[in-house]
Amino acid sequence: MIRSVGLSRTGHVDSAAPRHAGPEDARAVADLLIRSRRAAVGAIPAAVHPDSEVREWTRTVLIAEQEVWLMEDAGSRPLAVLALRDDWVDQLYVDPAFTGRGLGSHLIEFAKSHRPAGLQLWTFATNTGAQRFYLRHGFTVAETTDGTRNEENAPDIRFVWTAPR
Ligand SMILES: CC(C)(COP(=O)(O)OP(=O)(O)OC[C@H]1O[C@@H](n2cnc3c(N)ncnc32)[C@H](O)[C@@H]1OP(=O)(O)O)[C@@H](O)C(=O)NCCC(=O)NCCS
Repeated sequence: MIRSVGLSRTGHVDSAAPRHAGPEDARAVADLLIRSRRAAVGAIPAAVHPDSEVREWTRTVLIAEQEVWLMEDAGSRPLAVLALRDDWVDQLYVDPAFTGRGLGSHLIEFAKSHRPAGLQLWTFATNTGAQRFYLRHGFTVAETTDGTRNEENAPDIRFVWTAPR
């Protein structure tokens, strides 16, 4: 069954259930990650791995070892991807042609419902749009770094979310 997003006339997402990704989705998920990350350069440092390695990692690590969820258009093309690893939001990327329409909000609220005990994630210090997005969704800053611990060597911020009591 195709579970597509319902983009309303205002261009925002209606209700749609994310679909759990399997090995057959690896190629499309990698393409989406590459597309989204490339479009975000400036806010996000350029990828340190070539596309071929991103594709291999998506297949053998991301989809094989993490819980990956997709939102798709009516033609089953992924428009947004969420990867959860324990209480971590490891990846949250929206197709650059579909940002700002509620897809990311839908997936982060979905992540909260799947991890009611709490969530954490890293975002680059330069990614102010994403920071605004996480703050709006109830995340708070837990830690800032100088970037020496990540591959990109770029300062980043750890955000956490805990369910309100
Ligand atoms: C950040 C992101 C996941 C948010 O998802 P979204 O579907 O675009 O967001 P929503 O429509 O639900 O919410 C809108 C908010 O998201 C953020 N946002 C929107 N477009 C964005 C973009 N291109 N890049 C970063 N943040 C963006 C803004 O905070 C925006 O609020 P604003 O209109 O007040 O500025 C998505 O924009 C994205 O994939 N950006 C590029 C990659 C990225 O930064 N991923 C997060 C890595 S930690």
